[in-house]
Amino acid sequence: MGIVTTLWGVGVGPGDPELITLKGWRRLQAAPVVAFPAGVQGRMGVAEQIIAPHLKPQQVRLPLEFPYVLDENQLQQAWHIAAECVYDYLQQGLDVVFVSEGDVSFYSTFTYLGSAVQQLDPTVPLGIIPGICSPLAAAAVLGLPLTCGGDRLAILPAMYHADELTQAWGWADVLVLMKVRAVYPQVWQWLQTHNLLAQAAVVIWATTPQQQVYYPLTRWPALELPYFSLLLVWKYASPFRSDKKMGHFTI
Ligand SMILES: C[S@@+](CC[C@H](N)C(=O)[O-])C[C@H]1O[C@@H](n2cnc3c(N)ncnc32)[C@H](O)[C@@H]1O
Repeated sequence: MGIVTTLWGVGVGPGDPELITLKGWRRLQAAPVVAFPAGVQGRMGVAEQIIAPHLKPQQVRLPLEFPYVLDENQLQQAWHIAAECVYDYLQQGLDVVFVSEGDVSFYSTFTYLGSAVQQLDPTVPLGIIPGICSPLAAAAVLGLPLTCGGDRLAILPAMYHADELTQAWGWADVLVLMKVRAVYPQVWQWLQTHNLLAQAAVVIWATTPQQQVYYPLTRWPALELPYFSLLLVWKYASPFRSDKKMGHFTI
């Protein structure tokens, strides 16, 4: 007979601990083992910080190492080691909840962890509870609709070039750039060339105490951005867009 315990992936939202779903919170409360990406240099990881207020002392906390590298072999190895740690608990009859910042199906490590666990044992059931992902959080912070009417939305992950932006902009009405830190100066130039700076915003650490907003981007050609930053640009002015949200502000 196969495994009867479940590996749960729970999206815990973009930062504010109140932005976890009721279903996610209940699943978290019921979990004997709670896994999350380990933080760097002894600091808590972001998902761990979000759930820390919700955890009980008797719950096992399982930090899993996922290196920030592009090397496929190193990544595969890390996913395999993490999967073995998780599988140990599943075999003991204990459910494991893996928490992911934002949503668990949206550029999340859970995808790789779940697949590595199922490579060890294809009978392990995976349960998924979605969370609020960062583009939705950023739109809420700005007080703007992300999309409306027939808007076509493009979301680009890391490592894009100006050509990719131009191509996506050819069909999209709203563009979201994840992991924008490394390419911000090039993106700013591209926005300037296409006369889009007035319709573009950067949101840093959305919904957390470190949150910052830069909108519009006209005055900000050289921002030093942290990893948790994203950029949004709209093709058309929205009827809900409000001037009071403009400038650089923190919460
Ligand atoms: C690996 S992706 C994780 C996405 C996440 N699973 C989600 O649902 O949003 C990491 C990127 O998401 C974006 N991001 C995630 N949370 C954010 C936040 N609170 N504020 C701003 N950007 C965020 C940043 O662009 C960051 O580089």
